[in-house]
Amino acid sequence: MTTTENRRSKRTEVLEDRPVNLDGFVEEWPEKGLVAMESDFDPQPSVRVEGGKIVELDGRARADFDFMDTFIADHAIDVETAEEVNAIPSVEIARALVDPRASRDELTRIGRGLTPAKILDVVKLMNVVEIMMAMQKMRARRTPANQAHSTSAKDNPIQVAADAAEGALRGFAELETTLGVVRYAPLVAIALQVGGQVGRGGVLTQCALEEATELELGMRGITAYAETISVYGTESVFVDGDDTPWSKAFLASAYASRGIKMRFTSGTGSEVQMGNAEGRSMLYLEIRCILMAKGAGVQGLQNGSISCIGVPGAVPGGIRAVAAENLIASWMDLECASGNDQSFSHSAMRRTARLLPQMLPGTDFVCSGYSAVPNPDNMFAGSNLDTDDYDDWNTIQRDLQVDGGLRHVRETEILQAREKAARALQAVFAELDLPRITDEEVEAAVYANGSGDYPERDVLEDLKGAQSVMDRGITGLDLVKALERSGFHDVAENLLTVLRQRVSGDLLQTSAILTDDFVPLSAINDANDYGGPGSGYRLQGERWEQLKKLRHVTSAENPETEVS
Ligand code: 5AD
Ligand code: CA
Repeated sequence: MTTTENRRSKRTEVLEDRPVNLDGFVEEWPEKGLVAMESDFDPQPSVRVEGGKIVELDGRARADFDFMDTFIADHAIDVETAEEVNAIPSVEIARALVDPRASRDELTRIGRGLTPAKILDVVKLMNVVEIMMAMQKMRARRTPANQAHSTSAKDNPIQVAADAAEGALRGFAELETTLGVVRYAPLVAIALQVGGQVGRGGVLTQCALEEATELELGMRGITAYAETISVYGTESVFVDGDDTPWSKAFLASAYASRGIKMRFTSGTGSEVQMGNAEGRSMLYLEIRCILMAKGAGVQGLQNGSISCIGVPGAVPGGIRAVAAENLIASWMDLECASGNDQSFSHSAMRRTARLLPQMLPGTDFVCSGYSAVPNPDNMFAGSNLDTDDYDDWNTIQRDLQVDGGLRHVRETEILQAREKAARALQAVFAELDLPRITDEEVEAAVYANGSGDYPERDVLEDLKGAQSVMDRGITGLDLVKALERSGFHDVAENLLTVLRQRVSGDLLQTSAILTDDFVPLSAINDANDYGGPGSGYRLQGERWEQLKKLRHVTSAENPETEVS
């Protein structure tokens, strides 16, 4: 038998055609930082404290610190415990992280004194199952939740409102939007806010924009929180974005001053993508970001590579490193919105595998952006999961008895919520003298899947309307009044109650979300108390009954019929 180089087997042809082979994979290149977490170029852990100040950090003397080192040394690391906890062997700390008998409190106490290289040294010892074990214990909030994207390829506000209402009904605790055409932002942010409060009261919304506008919308109460405050792991990349750790910390205080919930965003791969990883591994740099967030005093972080997932996704062990960065955020006692928010693979199996390290142990937000619109309408460039995956997600929750924050909802309920959201937005636009929303558009919103299913809007008129929202100084309270005047009393009440939270400041607590009854649920009143089998959050009782429901389940009593 002869083999020739140009003839392929049938099996190779089948494999070549599998979606996974459309994905991109690269070899490690540690000099450029294209390595997940095992690099000879990362520093070795060390710390020295003199006169209450850290004078040496991971092999660098204070005189040689870059601004990240300085910020972390001065604001993130507890000088009282640093020398003591850094002297604990890494393997002991790693084992305590997975040992249910070691308490979360003790581990956060140890974590507060560790240097970036020491944290890396610890998590390097952990395989992905151990990382999940540790996440189950270390996430801040006991009850897991989920976050969605509600955007439109045409920036159509009616679409955003209807999909927000459906998303809220399905269970998302937070909804975010962003734009194709940035000037559309005020109308789309209003749509998200109104639609979200129709689906269920208490959903928090945000609009990812350039930072000054994002802050202004937050201060006006047109959004309820902010998330895309980016931080980076090298000084050069930070400066490239015209920022420093201090400017980001200042921005964080601006939100806090108004009681507005806020978290930073970071993630492995951003420094490589921006061409300045300074020869460090992706996870080492991400640990610097996590500590920077901690030092700035923000309550949480969106991490897990986020928009850069293609980079760790392309190198060996990259998805393990992404799971590790989520764990470290939780270990540092920050709320963690854990990624799964950007499409990175053509393979359905690989998309699911990437999700399990967050979905199985549960995180504060399993997805920091599940696409509550079909991916072609996703203006965050597509998510790891979208509306097509709703039934699969619900089935996985039921199969494994895990709570990923969503539930199956009957179509009649969904259609009612979509219609009410579109009607409420129609009324708000009319009250505020914004471009008209027709009955035809409302009807389209009820039954639509994507932006192509809606009548075209007059974009120029909408953009003028959007500008007038800014010029007239319209606030969240104006939306409440407009809803009240037009007969949407319950929606007005929901929105007002969300806005009122900023007066109490309860949403500044770590991992705060609002329940349907507007009770803040956070690491304060819903602290993660996992301590091994039989403890911590368990999917049971009423919630488990909810999650047993799917689109098609055969009735046990009458096998001819389905229950729903
Ligand atoms: N690091 C920092 N910021 C990020 N974002 C997304 N991924 C990262 C990352 N790895 C932020 C950017 C982007 C928004 C969606 O989230 O600001 O615009
Ligand atoms: Ca997000």
